[in-house]
Amino acid sequence: MLLREQVPLAPYTTFGIGGPARYFVEATDEASVLEAVRYARENRLPLFVLGAGSNVLVSDEGFPGVVLHVAMMGVEQDGNYFRVAAGENWDSFVSLAIERGYGGIECLAGIPGTVGGTPVQNVGAYGQEVSTTITAVRILDRNHLTFGELPAATCGFSYRRSIFNSTHRDRFIVTRVVYRLRPKAFPVLSYPDLKRYFHDRQDTPTLAEVAAAVREIRHQKGMLLVEGDPDCRSAGSFFKNPVVPQAQYDEIGTRTSLQVPCYPAPRGYAKIPAAWLVEQAGFQKGFGQGAAGISNKHTLALINRGDATASDMVLLRDLIAAKVEQKFGVRLEPEPVWVGG
Ligand code: EPU
Repeated sequence: MLLREQVPLAPYTTFGIGGPARYFVEATDEASVLEAVRYARENRLPLFVLGAGSNVLVSDEGFPGVVLHVAMMGVEQDGNYFRVAAGENWDSFVSLAIERGYGGIECLAGIPGTVGGTPVQNVGAYGQEVSTTITAVRILDRNHLTFGELPAATCGFSYRRSIFNSTHRDRFIVTRVVYRLRPKAFPVLSYPDLKRYFHDRQDTPTLAEVAAAVREIRHQKGMLLVEGDPDCRSAGSFFKNPVVPQAQYDEIGTRTSLQVPCYPAPRGYAKIPAAWLVEQAGFQKGFGQGAAGISNKHTLALINRGDATASDMVLLRDLIAAKVEQKFGVRLEPEPVWVGG
């Protein structure tokens, strides 16, 4: 295990923000993961597991413990099952699955990040969520220092949620994910943007065409990582879409006299697009507050407009959340993980 000290974290994040890690370990195998966890435990240091840094906001002070950069690689296919190491790039895996003729994750093309991050926040977009294809997650249990495999049914998946980011946060480190994909699958075309995209098509588009369409739609929204595009210095959606009781949803519509958009949600609830709430609260695309701002392409992506600090981003986050709460009585919850003190 190579332990480096005072490693700047900003280059490891899509925001390009954040101070140094006191210790930094790049783990290319499970043995190094275990070693890093042991080291942190023996030295009473906190540990943070970093993937592609596409869903994190690192504090300006950095992280006062061990940052474990997950870099295990490898994809094994066994029939319809794909066992993928946590450090693999997610979008490359989507492409590989499609090249081999497998569906189930084509709508999740173009999402930045690593495979290991996908079960943690149950990554979802354009009508698909990874929870529908994941069958098991291989983990290191930090309580017992043992490796094991958790069946999907025990992972507690729901919208942007799993046991890994809620009830058992900080207990498990994902080292591999098993997906069950479908050969010769029909692509999922349920999301409005995608339906619109293929509106004039008579025949069913291929999985590859759907993935390409998703990448293009994401690109238009600044949700595809493109080198040099200032709208990409973000963590994707900065807020989750709030899920509120139906009665509260109805009340907001009556009180504001607005037609409030909503997504399907569990019975008795409505999921409201946070981007809409943010815009209605007075923040337009391209809004800036010093070096922190809102993407020119999507209201839900907060961006680093140059040399923003984490504090700048936090000020903007709080300003937006306060205005939305004032106008709608809805408390927005940030989506990226906060790293640091
Ligand atoms: N909207 C605005 N202004 C905008 C953009 C959107 O008002 O600039 C409103 C519109 O009413 C629009 C609605 O928000 O109809 C929904 O927008 P969009 O279809 O872009 O999706 P989203 O709800 O903002 C979610 C995910 C994205 C995912 C897309 C597509 C969350 C928090 N975000 O965004 O995920 O790609 O749907 O499925 O659930 C991410 O998690 O980082 C992410 C990018």
